[in-house]
Amino acid sequence: MRDVAVIGVGLTQFGELWEKSFRELIAEAGAKAILDSGISGKEVDAMYVGSMSSGRFIGQEHIGALVADASGFSFAHVPSTRVEGACASGGLAVRQGYLAVASGMHDVVVVGGIEKMNDVGGTSATETLATAADQEWEAFFGATFPGIYAMIATRHMHDYGTTREQMAQVAVKNHMNGVLNPYAQYRKEISLDAVLNATMVAYPLGLLDCSPVSDGAASIVLCAAEKAKKYTNKAVKIIAAGQASDTLALHARENICTLQATVHAAKMAYKQANLTPKDIDLAEVHDCFTIAEICAIEDLGFVKKGEGGKAIDNRITTRDGSLPVNTSGGLKAKGHPVGATGVAQVIEIALQLRGDAEKRQVPDARIGLAHNVGGSGATCTVHILEAM
Ligand code: COA
Repeated sequence: MRDVAVIGVGLTQFGELWEKSFRELIAEAGAKAILDSGISGKEVDAMYVGSMSSGRFIGQEHIGALVADASGFSFAHVPSTRVEGACASGGLAVRQGYLAVASGMHDVVVVGGIEKMNDVGGTSATETLATAADQEWEAFFGATFPGIYAMIATRHMHDYGTTREQMAQVAVKNHMNGVLNPYAQYRKEISLDAVLNATMVAYPLGLLDCSPVSDGAASIVLCAAEKAKKYTNKAVKIIAAGQASDTLALHARENICTLQATVHAAKMAYKQANLTPKDIDLAEVHDCFTIAEICAIEDLGFVKKGEGGKAIDNRITTRDGSLPVNTSGGLKAKGHPVGATGVAQVIEIALQLRGDAEKRQVPDARIGLAHNVGGSGATCTVHILEAM
């Protein structure tokens, strides 16, 4: 296996992007990443693109070829593959690109992630997202993703004493970070009271405990680390790429507050990188709902199970804390165009390790982790990156 570097990154604005098409979004993110990397288009050996449900959101499948076409690579007949794993589609695409370069099969790979969710109404978006849940045991009975994570939240409150205030603080923190991210969907601070008094979506999760419905795309260029210097002096290395699966339905799990796919993907990644959770300087974790960030910091081993709420009280995860989490604003404030999210998380870590995160820069960041979850945890990827 060869070492793999991220040599270029590109993001579109995240938000309600009525004026931009799916093709325009992915072409914009890809072009920015290629420009940032210093490669020329003809050096691209392969493309991988994560998209959860383009068929339902915009009525278009066959996304691998479409993305190559929209980005001007169809004439070069570059192999382009769509990867799907619900909200972890982007993380899976990063891992596929990583494996293609690490194996020696390809030298330069472009990875993209995209979703355009607002072209359908809210009800249809909710139903589409629910296709990532277990259709027979959950969605058929009316469970939506806010409903599923609400069950996790009430159980966490019951078992570990986690409070609504602790969950709400996750949203307050991530909105504070989002203010500093020019690509974020929501660039406004919110108060604890606003989160606690927001319209209830599924108890105990109110509107401001939820990530929004978003449009957006993200792209990175990967290449063999030994060749990175030829293109750029801003490369960062991917030193681990973990992935794991779990049951689709919550009821089949021993403990619904532990996402075993996160635990196992993290174990795989820490082993590959020869690191422990203590070595991580900052993390982007999958905060699709505020409770999800609390579970994630526990399952990734940053704090003990049940102590995620206390870690929020102790401000461990704020930008000036000992382990800054979701400096990008997270899914909560940056937005969650589901297929793009896993790629965008890697971009935030790469920017931080390059020293390019501007006003949200974490000083002396050397090692960062990106954690992407599909559904309620049936798929998970964990990537660890290191400054070069
Ligand atoms: N965070 C902050 N503000 C939000 C928001 C969110 N998650 N969702 C909507 N808003 C804002 C909108 O910008 C709008 O503000 P405005 O009136 O100033 O323009 C207002 O709230 C109402 O927006 P609307 O689109 O009518 O909200 P909605 O009720 O249709 O949707 C949710 C709100 C929470 C139900 C929706 O965002 C949602 O389903 N989120 C979860 C997505 C999800 O499940 N993702 C997959 C995770 S696994």
